[in-house]
Amino acid sequence: MESTPATDPNLLDKVTNLAKRRGFIFPSAEIYGGFRSTYDYGPLGVNMLRNVKQAWWRTMVQMRSDIVGLDAAILGPPAVWAASGHLETFTDPLVDCRKCKERWREDKINGVCPNCGSTEFTEPRAFNLMFKTQAGPVEGEGATAYLRPETAQGMFTNFANVLATVRKKPPFGIAQIGKSFRNEITPQNFVFRTREFEQMEMEFFVPPAEADEWYQYWVQARYDWYLDFGISRELLRLHEHAKEDLSHYSRGTTDVEFAYPWGWDELEGIANRGDYDLTQHSNASGVKLEYFDQATSERYTPYVIEPAAGATRAMMAFLLAAYHEDEVDGEVRTVLRLDWRLAPYQIAVLPLSKKPELEGVSKEVLAKLQANFMCDYDVTQSIGRRYRRQDEVGTPFCITVDFDTLEDHSVTVRDRDTTEQTRVKIDDLLRELHSRTGQI
Ligand code: GAP
Repeated sequence: MESTPATDPNLLDKVTNLAKRRGFIFPSAEIYGGFRSTYDYGPLGVNMLRNVKQAWWRTMVQMRSDIVGLDAAILGPPAVWAASGHLETFTDPLVDCRKCKERWREDKINGVCPNCGSTEFTEPRAFNLMFKTQAGPVEGEGATAYLRPETAQGMFTNFANVLATVRKKPPFGIAQIGKSFRNEITPQNFVFRTREFEQMEMEFFVPPAEADEWYQYWVQARYDWYLDFGISRELLRLHEHAKEDLSHYSRGTTDVEFAYPWGWDELEGIANRGDYDLTQHSNASGVKLEYFDQATSERYTPYVIEPAAGATRAMMAFLLAAYHEDEVDGEVRTVLRLDWRLAPYQIAVLPLSKKPELEGVSKEVLAKLQANFMCDYDVTQSIGRRYRRQDEVGTPFCITVDFDTLEDHSVTVRDRDTTEQTRVKIDDLLRELHSRTGQI
């Protein structure tokens, strides 16, 4: 029986448990009882999260000549957030249930308390989602600072710096991956909505007349990216926001939505931000954030098309989409059918026994592969159990070293999805694995 978000009501629990049990994602500060809605990425999770970010960076920066990267500060002065509109409008309407006293976002509860069913609430209050802190050593005397609630503003405040240093002209983009912080009222659903999370955002600056075309382009490109990395078409859809639901800066927003176990919800948002941000920062800072086109002698404020994704949320979607239960040799097995580019380990090297002669060759094979792939090495338990353990964390290929290896200088390559086993000469192993993963 295949298990997908659409067919398995327990999928979220299964993936959350697997993530904890196998070292993907741990509840933060667990030995102190945890800290609500914060998570730590364990040995396998950190590999996978890095792979998600690397996959995005490769597509968005490495493979293009019209996008450059940036890594801006997380701490920022109030002036940035006043100009961006976040101080005034980055709020959620907060209500308290009069009966059980639970606190909710008014726009998420349909008038009924999800905890006790009461319909009696306090009047909504605007609650700003930014984390406020102070920079400076003396309590109460430091300068106010905010943790950024999105990475985007770093791209706008550095627009002139980037333009002056990399000789790009619109259409061109600035991309950034990094942590963002929001004091969410109701963080929930594992790492879907957390207070500390990672974003992958790109601001694409275009001549205003080309904005609509580029908006459509990026909606399609971002949808295709998730397909390319293994999420099936049935689990993805596009949802265009109604005019009245748009954020304060947006002229149009389309979400790439994923079929989470609780229903369709946002995975990534693509927005046409118009000239809102550059105009706001120009006016507030007094520094002109424009582009002067020498060919036409035209000076203008570019429009911005922004694909804004969550790295941690995308990792969760990739895990949910990859989780399957199938049958191998009459037994149910759990397998993560992750794209090899996202899997925590691409390869596991498994000596059939702990005999020194086998371990010797196995370590040589491992050293050869480690330069090219992230590898695991496991000598414990029966080979069948070890295959299952690797299936469960999505390792695409297991390399088994057995006693025949000592004679024929070959190993067995086992494929995670088909469970097919092929004998390959050690000398041909790298070439074989590169051809299976489509690498040159
Ligand atoms: N710069 C635009 C912006 O930040 P957003 O829709 O608020 O837009 C973009 O956020 C993406 O960041 C979301 O689609 C989601 O993937 C991720 N994200 C936002 N808030 C999050 C949270 N509290 N926890 C995890 N991911 C979040």
